[in-house]
Amino acid sequence: MIRTVPTTPFDDQKPGTSGLRKKVPHFQQPNYVENFVQSIFDSLENFAGKTLVIGGDGRYFNREVIQVALKMAAANGFGRVLVGRGGILSTPAASHVIRKFRAFGGIILSASHNPGGPTEDFGIKYNIGNGGPAPEKYTNAIYARSREITEYRILEAPDVDLDVIGTTMLGQMQVEVIDPVADYAALMETLFDFDAIRAAFAGGFRMAFDAMSAVTGPYATEILENRLGAPRGTVRNGTPLPDFGGHHPDPNLVHARDLHDTMMAADAPDFGAASDGDGDRNLIIGRGIFVTPSDSLALLAANAHLAPGYAAGLKGIARSMPTSAAADRVAEALGIGIYETPTGWKFFGNLLDAGLATICGEESAGTGSDHVREKDGLWAVLLWLNILALRKQSVRDIVEAHWAEHGRNYYARHDYEAIETAAANDLVAALRDRLPDLPGQEVAGLTIAAADDFAYLDPVDGSSSAHQGIRVLFEGGSRAVFRLSGTGTSGATLRVYLERFEPDPARHGLATAEALAEVIAAAEALAGIRARTGRTQPDVIT
Ligand code: G1P
Ligand code: ZN
Repeated sequence: MIRTVPTTPFDDQKPGTSGLRKKVPHFQQPNYVENFVQSIFDSLENFAGKTLVIGGDGRYFNREVIQVALKMAAANGFGRVLVGRGGILSTPAASHVIRKFRAFGGIILSASHNPGGPTEDFGIKYNIGNGGPAPEKYTNAIYARSREITEYRILEAPDVDLDVIGTTMLGQMQVEVIDPVADYAALMETLFDFDAIRAAFAGGFRMAFDAMSAVTGPYATEILENRLGAPRGTVRNGTPLPDFGGHHPDPNLVHARDLHDTMMAADAPDFGAASDGDGDRNLIIGRGIFVTPSDSLALLAANAHLAPGYAAGLKGIARSMPTSAAADRVAEALGIGIYETPTGWKFFGNLLDAGLATICGEESAGTGSDHVREKDGLWAVLLWLNILALRKQSVRDIVEAHWAEHGRNYYARHDYEAIETAAANDLVAALRDRLPDLPGQEVAGLTIAAADDFAYLDPVDGSSSAHQGIRVLFEGGSRAVFRLSGTGTSGATLRVYLERFEPDPARHGLATAEALAEVIAAAEALAGIRARTGRTQPDVIT
């Protein structure tokens, strides 16, 4: 029986950089999940009888929300739902399943790299039929609807058994529980030279992959160990846990410290990698060398032709604005287009759909291509493996040769987390006010060449997005960018992105902090971070 339940709106269901993210207890308020899911369905048209994909990263509250979403999908008229076994689908796998089965769209339950557990984070995100995160016109409509909602529809039925593969009926709707890994693993086999990678492992190539007790464990075990023959134990922390074992499933040098230490040891494996809570981010470390995500994007683009899926070359490269310009130099060398978008994967979808870009990336450990419409952690790891297997050089040799050819973009991001929202807003507003006067001024020994508040005009659909981050460009090609996070769940997070281009190979061996010292000082002088936030140093440096 379908029940129509009266409800009243919440005023805080505005999707951020990547869907709606809140603490679990916030989501557990009566009707909170139902209101948001109904707001999604109410903003969509013509889905009667069509297919919806549902899956999540397995974090705490995943199963409960999946049952609600299934019953609401049935009550709202979907014809079929594909759901990963155990409620599991990594974000890139969900994107692929949406595309492969030509689904109408998908609901992904994840708070990505944020911690999980009864008092930690949860998230709900809607993806459209191309497999990518809903663009702003959808998220704006969902938010608008959430402000006016008066009722939601839900089927009264027993819970669906999510642990058995097969098809059942939920009212008039078919529910298919699918293997979360199989379709994704098959796609990877079409893109990469599995034979070459298998031969490398057989020849003694050693790797450590940290799944961070998150969703990538089963995917990595199947692909790396079962299909590519990497020794058992190559995948660490490979069982997804609802609280990620109490860790932040964020693949950076702070939260993937163990992997970092493994890779810096004298007997380190050849290659180290990690992925985040929902499997869309990646961390790449060679023996004794961390590869920044911005450099990784540039290196993958420069070498992608070595993988069968990209042998025909790239159509273009897209990067988010705060990502370093290392990829721009590769695009220039290859004679292909480079696109600079606001932060967030949703801005890449149109470029990929239109065939303008093949590879995309963000400084926040996200890289991907037109094979899906999300960033894809394991994809990046497999492309690296493919390149290493064919070039037969160390990560360090490949990276240093790349810098010698294209120059090195020293890069760091400084995050100030959970600062007071008002102070953060004031800091950005003060910078914005000063923008017209900045060019020509000297700060901490650097001269400002240009400064603006980044705005994007989508070349495909003509939509525009303003206020995407304050950019300050210095003479000589250094840069500082300031923006507030759109994914945090407590207070505000200020992100300061620092970059300096160094063409001279003789100066490619500096420590990052040393290379960036002037830019860091200039950023502090410009924004007054200490005075305004009371923080003397960033919480996280990536
Ligand atoms: C962060 C990253 C951004 C990424 C997003 C979702 O968003 O900076 O690149 O797309 O997470 O994974 P932010 O918190 O900066 O808004
Ligand atoms: Zn993620």
